[in-house]
Amino acid sequence: MPERTPHIRLARPDLGEEEVAAVREVFASGVLTGGPQNAAFEREFAARHEVTHAVTFASGTVALAAMLLAEGIGPGDEVIVPSMTFIATATAVRHVGATPVFADIDPDTFTIDPAAIPALVTSRTRAVLTVHYAGQPAALDALLKVCSDHGIALLEDAAQAVGGSYRGRPAGSFGRSAMFSFTPTKNITTGEGGIVVTGEAAVAGRLRLLRNHGQTRLYQHEILGYNWRLTEMQAAIGRVQLRKLDGILARKRASAAWMNDRLARVPGVTPPRVAPHACSTHMLYTVLVDHGRDAVLAHLLAHGIEARVYFPPVHLQPVFAGQSGPLPVTEDVAARMLSLPMHAQLTPAELGEIADRLEAAVRETRLPAPGGRVADRPCWIRPCWIRPCWIRPCWIRPCWIRPCWIHQRRMRLGTPATVTPAGWSRMTTAPAPIMVPAPTRRFCRMQAFVPKVTSSPTVTAPAMLAFIRKVA
Ligand SMILES: Cc1ncc(COP(=O)(O)O)c(C=O)c1O
Repeated sequence: MPERTPHIRLARPDLGEEEVAAVREVFASGVLTGGPQNAAFEREFAARHEVTHAVTFASGTVALAAMLLAEGIGPGDEVIVPSMTFIATATAVRHVGATPVFADIDPDTFTIDPAAIPALVTSRTRAVLTVHYAGQPAALDALLKVCSDHGIALLEDAAQAVGGSYRGRPAGSFGRSAMFSFTPTKNITTGEGGIVVTGEAAVAGRLRLLRNHGQTRLYQHEILGYNWRLTEMQAAIGRVQLRKLDGILARKRASAAWMNDRLARVPGVTPPRVAPHACSTHMLYTVLVDHGRDAVLAHLLAHGIEARVYFPPVHLQPVFAGQSGPLPVTEDVAARMLSLPMHAQLTPAELGEIADRLEAAVRETRLPAPGGRVADRPCWIRPCWIRPCWIRPCWIRPCWIRPCWIHQRRMRLGTPATVTPAGWSRMTTAPAPIMVPAPTRRFCRMQAFVPKVTSSPTVTAPAMLAFIRKVA
């Protein structure tokens, strides 16, 4: 099905006459940069996020780089980041000459897994840069503890978390510094823009220097700086947007709650989970689709509903190729995740349409094609699906199993590679999801048998090969 111009957008900024009036006032003042609007936006944003300092930037990406530089991070240092994020989290680390070290995520919240961090800490590790995926704060208590145990800093990439909170405290107020972004997909926008908040006066001072050519007074340049300034027009828009924030969040939270209830009744779809103590901004509304995620995405796009995969893992992008070991949870989640439209202007009818279309797409994806075979869509084996009581050895017939059906997808941003039986025996990198294209319905049942045979909490490639050889 061809894609249509979407009539339900993934994100839609809430902009109106108030923003236009604010920009007009700036024009009338004649001060277009470095003026009172930036100063006021910084004050108001800091107050809203319960921190003492805020420094605006031209984008979230440069704000991240400035935050790292202001923390003294540079060549030779390592920063632990999740791979389930927008590329800028990791490229900012690279831009300042440091090395991003990718950590796996929690399978429920898609935020960095604190338990994965100790194994990645080296003598060069300077910080954990956590990402509040979809606006849901990461497990901040556990992260603060692990960082303090290892003597490293916690920094927050709170790009998506304006207005989010953890144990009632605003996201962005936990780490030494935190960055927020104002691109148009975020809950509040200045077109482009970012801000760093911090409780440290010295860090704030360095941020201001970095933003403005390292200039301490006119044409006196103390450090290597940049022009990373936000304009006065953008700051004026940001101030109006900040006043709208609570209304935007309330509408999004109501929509997300409705969608959670509705999708709880759709088999094969897992609505987003919000962890205890966390209050998400629902900047994204990301579900997991058990079967045929790509087909479901194509179906939604063909019906004018703009869904997207947020995000293909960063450690598998060509720019970071070969620089990370496998991250099984990240890769598994990335293969099943789908972000649905979730903005503050969605009407009840549009929410209903999104849910109905998703349900229809999921149902269609699971239907067997003529001839009794499920249409050529991937299906994933995950041991967590398996219940021992489902397993009946009498279901298994050797003739159902063909080794050539088995592929392993390493998520190299391309089509899955076919793995021959010889290839299976060479592969030792599992655990990884096993994908079975074009399975028969019987073969689907077969999947339930696999963990029993391997007697393992994860399905490893060599075990799968041994199993196939045994029964084929
Ligand atoms: C998690 C995360 N980090 C960093 C950024 C970069 O922000 P910007 O696009 O404002 O440069 C984004 C933007 O989408 C983001 O989502």
